Amino acid sequence: MKKRIFTGLTATGDLTIGNYLGAIKNILESQDKEDKEVFLFIADLHGLTEQITAKEIRANVLNHLKIYLAAGIDVNKVKLFVQSSIIGHTELAWFLTVNSTMGQLSRLTQFKDKSQKQANKTKSIPTGIFMYPTLMAADILLYNADEIPLGEDQRQHLELTRDLAQKINKKYKLHLQIPKMIVAKEGAKIFALQNPDKKMSKSDSNLNNTIFLLDDEKVIAKKINNAITDSENKVYFDPINKPGVSNLMTIYGALNNLSMKEAEEKLKTLDYKELKQTVIKTLNELLLPLQKKYNELTKKDIIEALAVNKDYVQEEAYKTLKVVKERFGLIYE
Ligand code: TYM
Repeated sequence: MKKRIFTGLTATGDLTIGNYLGAIKNILESQDKEDKEVFLFIADLHGLTEQITAKEIRANVLNHLKIYLAAGIDVNKVKLFVQSSIIGHTELAWFLTVNSTMGQLSRLTQFKDKSQKQANKTKSIPTGIFMYPTLMAADILLYNADEIPLGEDQRQHLELTRDLAQKINKKYKLHLQIPKMIVAKEGAKIFALQNPDKKMSKSDSNLNNTIFLLDDEKVIAKKINNAITDSENKVYFDPINKPGVSNLMTIYGALNNLSMKEAEEKLKTLDYKELKQTVIKTLNELLLPLQKKYNELTKKDIIEALAVNKDYVQEEAYKTLKVVKERFGLIYE
């Protein structure tokens, strides 16, 4: 049996090099492996938790799809789909929600971070942000996925998914697959360029912290040249004492498929100016061809790409949904 690899990205903001290294790169590598069946989806329902307009979410979804295709995702190998176009995600989310607790969900760091940003009153925290993880668990469990490529920031969500699966498997005699998290050896956490103590995020208000996949050459050079380093001017990997330099080394290493040891070996004779030039060159090697392809793709290409696997994905989702409903006692005919 093929191993099922499954991941998704939220349809908010523009995709970053963190998203690429944390999730997309793994999908690109897995799609060529005979023993793997790969699913990639756009979490537009999760996107709605950010109070986004109809126009924005639609534009984001189309844009993300275009980037996946430009990055080399092949719909003849990858089941690429949009979350809201498949029946089953929100349904299964409810079965998981009623088996989760307020305590479990409010302990999650992403919820705590996001809720702190809201005027600091429980009343103003959108319920969607609170329920976000049960929907994510549903995405995964609906397809009985084996392995979930994710960045380090999503670890708690995957643990919750496993806990909920174990709970309902036991309680309702189900056999949902308990998923494993797959983290990139290098690049599982890319940090903000000017604040390397926090993760690089697409929603960072300081744009200089983030490399977006559609940033042009000049912008990339400017952002990397302005990235924070330290005063030592010696290149070696030490994320505690040299977080800025180590972050640049990680970006370089991950993009070139090098271990940190190998990356250090290649970079150790450089000064910081040269290090930055090397990182810029590596980023350009990935992003210039990606952007060229992105500009050539049309809306028609995207719509056609989405149609390829839709029926198959829906069938797979129905299979799980049917069993879950049965075991919860909700079949009446
Ligand atoms: P999202 O959209 O925040 O991020 C998408 C993927 O990118 C990874 N990532 C990073 N990796 C390394 N360094 C970074 N700085 C960095 N920033 C983001 C994330 O870890 C993630 O793998 N909840 C998910 C979307 C989702 C999902 C799912 C994923 C919804 N349902 C089911 C897998 C399975 C999210 O918000 O990802």
